[in-house]
Amino acid sequence: MSQAREVMNEGTKVLIQGGRVIDPAQGLDRVCDVLLAGGRVEAVGEGLGDELIRRGAAGADPGVEVIDARGLWVVPGLIDAHVHLRTPGETHKETLATGTAAAAAGGFTSVVCMPNTRPPLDDPIRVEWLRMKAEREALVRVYPAAAATEGLAGERLAPYGALRAAGAVAVTDDGRPIARAGVMRRVLEYAAAHGLPVLVHAEEPELSAGGAMHEGPVAAAAGMPGIPDTAESVMVARDVLLAERAGAHLHILHVSAENTVSLIRWAKARGVRVTAEVTPHHLLLCDEDVAAAGFDPNWKMNPPLRSAADREALLEAVADGTIDFIATDHAPHHAEDKDLPFPEASFGIVGLETAVALLLDAFVPGIISPSRLVELLSLRPARVFGLPGGTLRPGAPGDVTLIDPHQEWVIDPADFRSLGRNTPFAGRRVRGRVVRTLVGGRTVFQLAGAEVSHR
Ligand code: DOR
Repeated sequence: MSQAREVMNEGTKVLIQGGRVIDPAQGLDRVCDVLLAGGRVEAVGEGLGDELIRRGAAGADPGVEVIDARGLWVVPGLIDAHVHLRTPGETHKETLATGTAAAAAGGFTSVVCMPNTRPPLDDPIRVEWLRMKAEREALVRVYPAAAATEGLAGERLAPYGALRAAGAVAVTDDGRPIARAGVMRRVLEYAAAHGLPVLVHAEEPELSAGGAMHEGPVAAAAGMPGIPDTAESVMVARDVLLAERAGAHLHILHVSAENTVSLIRWAKARGVRVTAEVTPHHLLLCDEDVAAAGFDPNWKMNPPLRSAADREALLEAVADGTIDFIATDHAPHHAEDKDLPFPEASFGIVGLETAVALLLDAFVPGIISPSRLVELLSLRPARVFGLPGGTLRPGAPGDVTLIDPHQEWVIDPADFRSLGRNTPFAGRRVRGRVVRTLVGGRTVFQLAGAEVSHR
């Protein structure tokens, strides 16, 4: 997101009127107005429009863009802390423009992008380059995570001080584990010294080798090679102990298994600085669904969809706060990488454009309250990684997402802004839709048909 665009917003006011403003950071959930000015939140409260008209009549306010938000939720811009933008090197799968357009359409105003690119983001010059490119080409704010080890090879550490200075917000070899415990120990110590969180893709490579889906009765019946849940949980056991000793901030990416949840709960109770995320697909689906879908490779991701009991445990962990937030692990692939027999297809599914609707439809308000959903998709990721946003407090960035909680629609990958079409949710009817997304007070997505009036 470009600074220049924010500067252009200086002086422009946006009044979002009459929506249900949900801002857990302020304990706010009521119908009122939000006023943005100079790219930031200026005020939240009732009757802000009347106040502006009075001041306008006195010649104080040149022009105000008014958004009628009646019937809509008005929430702090959503933050997806786990996104693959495939830049540099795999721009046939996604570009900064298409990935961030997909983010905007999904209600996300900030994304943290993963470094498993070609070449990887293990070098400060590349991180700086990506940030500058994002200033020009991205529709939303882009925060790069840098590689934890050179070439994502799990051996020599990348230069964390320089990576941080170049704009990296975390280090990770996501997509791959750091197999060697001695290397992981040094990663955690070095990251702690530089104030960077370590995002861990927890996978014990000898246990997962050759696997394509969750190891269990479903895989066995189909003769599919399995990935046991222990491939994840033994590494989490190792890493929480190493993080405790190093005094590091360890963040567990895409938690999939019940045992992992128990270990995180145990570590948190001991005071280890551990946080965790879960994806919408691991909350919604399980291995039986993969079989029911006829082993369609659009149901293949790493970690895999696990058992129904694991899925239940993840939901409980979201409810009790063991899991800190929800992130999509948006992993676009080209059709060529997916149009293959299940065991041979690439791991990963897209998520940016479906997350809000899937979560609203399945879990809100019965299992997750609206305010908790906003915490999980905005406030908590902002707080965990120290990113701007996550609230509509006056002075916060003017990043706002407008959601129609009632609109029904059918997910059609042909409509995606993302270049990736790889989703298991194609054809699913869902309730709840992002209708407008603003970054720094500027509209970066508006659903066709949603009205704006100018005063
Ligand atoms: O399914 C996945 N896809 N899991 C990962 O960890 C990496 C990702 C990718 O980069 O495609």
